[in-house]
Amino acid sequence: MIKMVTKMLVNMIEMLKDAKEHHYAIAHFNINNLEWTQYILEEMEKLKRPVILGVSEGAAKYMGGFSVVAELVKALVSAMKITIPVCLHVDHGSSFSVCKEAIDAGFTSVMIDASKYPLSENIQITKEVVSYAHPLGISVEAEVGHIGENINSLDSKELNATLEEAKMLYEKTQIDALAPALGSVHGLYKGEPHLDFERMKEIKENLPIPLVLHGGTGIEEIKIQKAIACGISKININTELQLVWSKAVRTFLDENKEVYDPRKIIASGKEAIQTRIKEIITLFESERM
Ligand code: 13P
Repeated sequence: MIKMVTKMLVNMIEMLKDAKEHHYAIAHFNINNLEWTQYILEEMEKLKRPVILGVSEGAAKYMGGFSVVAELVKALVSAMKITIPVCLHVDHGSSFSVCKEAIDAGFTSVMIDASKYPLSENIQITKEVVSYAHPLGISVEAEVGHIGENINSLDSKELNATLEEAKMLYEKTQIDALAPALGSVHGLYKGEPHLDFERMKEIKENLPIPLVLHGGTGIEEIKIQKAIACGISKININTELQLVWSKAVRTFLDENKEVYDPRKIIASGKEAIQTRIKEIITLFESERM
C-alpha cells in the first residue's frame, strides 16, 4: 500500500520556493547510517533550518533498503522531537522502479537521474516518475546534461546542459527542481571547479523552477555564493561530511588505541560533522535577503 506524505516528513517544494525567493540555498546532506542521520537532524534542529536528507541507491542498500531508511528517519524525527521541515529524498534514482519503491516506502521526494540516456529518453522516464509522484504529493528533481565524478570539471564540459535541453526537460515533464550539469562534479575535483555561471543564470531566467547544484564539496566559497546569486536554490553535499568525519575518527583512533566500542569510534566524528554543517549553512545563507 502506498503511504501518503506524512506530516512528519515533507516534500521539498515549499522550502525551495522560499530559498529561491530569498536568495539562499537549502542544504541537501547525504546520509549513510543511523548516526549520520542523528547528527544532521540534531544540528539542523539547533540551527532551526529545513533540511533535505539525500539517500543514494547505494546508501539505501547499505542501510537495509528504502523502507528501513524511511522508518528510521521517521522514528528519529519523532524520538528527537524534531520540529524543522525534513524532506527525505532519493538521490540519483536510476529508474522509475527505484523511485516508485522509495515513494511506496515513505520517501517524500525523488531525484530521477536519467541523464545518461538521450534527452528524449530522459524526458520519457522523468515524465513517468512525475506522473506517479505528483498525485501523491512527492516532489521530483531531474538532471540534464551529465554530472561526472572525481574528474577535472573542464574534461566534462561537453556534458554541460544547454538552455534548450533544460527548457525541454522542464516543459515536457513539469518537474519541481532541475539539476543542470554546469561544471560541478561529484566527489573530489581534479583541478579547480569551473562552473558555467552564465549558463546557470540563463537557465534560471528562463525556467520558473529552482535549480540544484550537485557536487557541492570542494567548491570555493566565493563560487558557491555566485552560484546562489545565479539561481541555485539547493546544494548537495556528501563527500565533504565524509572527509571531516573520517579525519576526526582517524585522529581519535590514533590517540586512543585501546578503544574498541564502535559507538565511541563512530561518535568521535560527530563534532566535526556538526561544525562543518554550521559553516555550510552560514555560507548557503550568507547573501540571504
Ligand atoms: P559531493 O559528494 O561532491 O558533495 O556531491 C554530493 C552530491 O551531489 C550528491 O548528489
